[in-house]
Amino acid sequence: MRWYARHYGDDEELWGVTALLHDFDYEIHPTLDKHPQNGAPILRDEGYPEVVIEGVLSHAEHLAIPRDTPLKKTLFACDELSGFVHACGLVRPEGLSTLEPKSVLKKLKQPSFAAGVHRDEVYAGAELLDLPLDQHIGNVIEAMRPIAGELGLPA
Ligand SMILES: [Fe+2]
Repeated sequence: MRWYARHYGDDEELWGVTALLHDFDYEIHPTLDKHPQNGAPILRDEGYPEVVIEGVLSHAEHLAIPRDTPLKKTLFACDELSGFVHACGLVRPEGLSTLEPKSVLKKLKQPSFAAGVHRDEVYAGAELLDLPLDQHIGNVIEAMRPIAGELGLPA
């Protein structure tokens, strides 16, 4: 999210904080009848601005909140894909350093690999950003490479 904020000339801190918080309540509200909507009042009490709270709420498909800002679009587009790219990095001795979009595309077509990642949301995310999927994947790889060590991947 920070990479995309820089890429679009937007607010890196705002985008980074929204992404960091988007699943913050998942452990206390692990089900969709509570996550993330019951987390929003907690963020409000903590004094987070509405732009963060709205961004957090918008990542949830079941709330059907319009993704009408670059922040909301990008959060949705990076949520599943960053997890998937992370999984791709975990199964390679060299991590992300040599990972190419085409190998991620191939893995997306294997339903058993990182089966919890919703492929339809990965595809919908690239469309929402109006980017070809391979380009979006390349951006996410590029964004995650410099922080691979922090992400528990070979650095
Ligand atoms: Fe979530």
